[in-house]
Amino acid sequence: MIWKKFTFETVDSTNKVAADCPIGSVIVANSQTSGRGRYGHTWVSDKGNLYMSAVLKTYDEQTPLMAFVIAVSVADALGKIGCSPQLKWPNDILLNGAKLAGILLEQVDDKLIVGIGVNCASCPDNLPYPATHLNGKIGADQLADLILEQLMYWTGLFETDGFMPIYHQWKRYAVGLGQIITVRLPNETLQGIFKDLSESGALLLQLPDNTVKHITAGVVLLDERKYDE
Ligand code: BTN
Repeated sequence: MIWKKFTFETVDSTNKVAADCPIGSVIVANSQTSGRGRYGHTWVSDKGNLYMSAVLKTYDEQTPLMAFVIAVSVADALGKIGCSPQLKWPNDILLNGAKLAGILLEQVDDKLIVGIGVNCASCPDNLPYPATHLNGKIGADQLADLILEQLMYWTGLFETDGFMPIYHQWKRYAVGLGQIITVRLPNETLQGIFKDLSESGALLLQLPDNTVKHITAGVVLLDERKYDE
C-alpha cells in the first residue's frame, strides 16, 4: 500500500478526520482541539507532538490483533532513533516506565482508524499517571514517516505470516511479563502473575489459586502506579 499523507495545522481529532477518508490515507496535524484518548478520555494535543491517524482495512475477527501490530510498529520506529521503548499490554508505549505514546483504534464501517499520539516535545504535567516525552529528539513529521514505514512492514507480515511474528516481537518489548501485576476490569481488580501473552492476544494472568485467567480487555497497573485513569 502507498500511504497518502495529508498534513493540517489544527483539526479537532485526526481520528475524526480520517474516518471520512479512504483506506491508505494518513492524517497528520500539528495540534488537535478535541484529541481523543481511550475510555473516552481527552488527549491533550499541544503543538510539537505527533498526532496522526492512518486508515487501514479491517481483518474480520482478527482486527483486535491490530492493536499489537500498531504497537510493535511504533516501538520499532522509536528503536530506529535510539530509544528503548517498552510495551504495556495491550498497546501502551512507555519509555523508562512512563507513558510516551498512545494508540486509539476505532472501527468505522469497513475501515480501521489507527490513531497514534507520540509526545515528541512535551507532555501534560497534570496527568494521573507518569508521562514522558522525547525532548525534541525527532520532529513529529519525521517520526510519522518512520512509523508509517514500520506499519507497512508489520501489516504486510501480518497478512502473509499471521500473528506469530508480531506476537514474538511484542513480547520482546513487553513490560511486566513474569511479574506480579494488577489488572483493572470493569467489575473487579485482579492481582496475579503476568504469565504470558496468548496466541490470540489475551493477557494470561495466573491468580493466587493458580488458575490462569484469559484477559481480553482491562487496564494493567504496574507497581501500584496508575497509567490509564
Ligand atoms: C490513549 O489514550 O492512550 C490513546 C491516545 C491516542 C491519541 C491519538 S493522537 C492522534 C489520534 N487522534 C486522536 O484524537 N487520538 C489519537
